[in-house]
This record gives sequence, structure tokens and C-alpha cells, in this order.
Amino acid sequence: MNNKIIIGCDHAGFLLKNKLIEYLKEKNYIINDIGCYNTDSIDYPIIAKQLCKKIISNEYEKGILICGTGIGMSIAANKIKNIRAVVCSDTTSAKFSRQHNNTNVLCLGQRIIGEYLAKDICDIWLNTEFQKDRHLRRVLMLENSTVN
Ligand code: RB5
Repeated sequence: MNNKIIIGCDHAGFLLKNKLIEYLKEKNYIINDIGCYNTDSIDYPIIAKQLCKKIISNEYEKGILICGTGIGMSIAANKIKNIRAVVCSDTTSAKFSRQHNNTNVLCLGQRIIGEYLAKDICDIWLNTEFQKDRHLRRVLMLENSTVN
């Protein structure tokens, strides 16, 4: 298992980020916390881009981004080639986003879901493998602009 995870948030995701870091460390994940480190207002695209750069450079296989809703982070992350980000507020989406879409960034909303659901979503997302087969062809189509 690759147990290195990179994690980031804006001011609206700061509290949930801290709880998830503590939880994931207890599960022996090695966490790179790229901030932010307090609740002072910060623009989520800055954090999203910083984290995604580390994914596309292959320093990290998976990253977690937290903002108020998860939406801004996911929009920012999905602008970057080879990033497949998903906003999850349920565990089923977390599972299928890994099995079918090979998502490499998980976005969560501190204002949307509670701490315990967020932890369950992380567990499932981190532990579910991509199924490849027909899904690999489709995921490759996302990056190769073969859809007109
Ligand atoms: C910040 O107020 C909020 O807009 C941000 O955290 C996020 O929810 C955006 O999508």
C-alpha cells in the first residue's frame, strides 16, 4: 500500500483537515500537510494547484482537498491535466469514483458533511482499487481529447 498522502484546505476546511490528519496518522498514513494552517481567508485555487502539482509530478499518488463545500477545490483541481478529482458526500460515490474513474484527488466539504462521514469516505476512497478493464479506456479518453 502506498501510504503517503498529500492534504490541503482553505480556511473553510481547516477544522476538518486537522481532524482527518489526526485520524489518518493513527492509521499509519504519512501526511504532507500543505496548509492552510489557520482560518484566515485564503483562495482555494492556490491550494488546489499546489497540491495537484505534487500529484502530476508523481510525488504523491493521492491527495485530499477540503474547502467549505468541496466544490471549488474540485473545479480547480479538475482544470489540471491528469487530475481526476471528485467531491464526495457519500461513501458509494467514493467507492465508484475509485473503481470506475481512478480518481486521484478527493474533495470534501466541511460545511456539508460531518467528521465521521468524512473519515468513512476517506477510508473507502483510500482503500478501493481502480478496476481498469473498460474503465481504463474511458479514463484515457478523458486525457487524450478523443471525444469531440
Ligand atoms: C469559502 O467561503 C468557500 O467559498 C470555499 O471554501 C468553497 O466552499 C468554495 O467552493
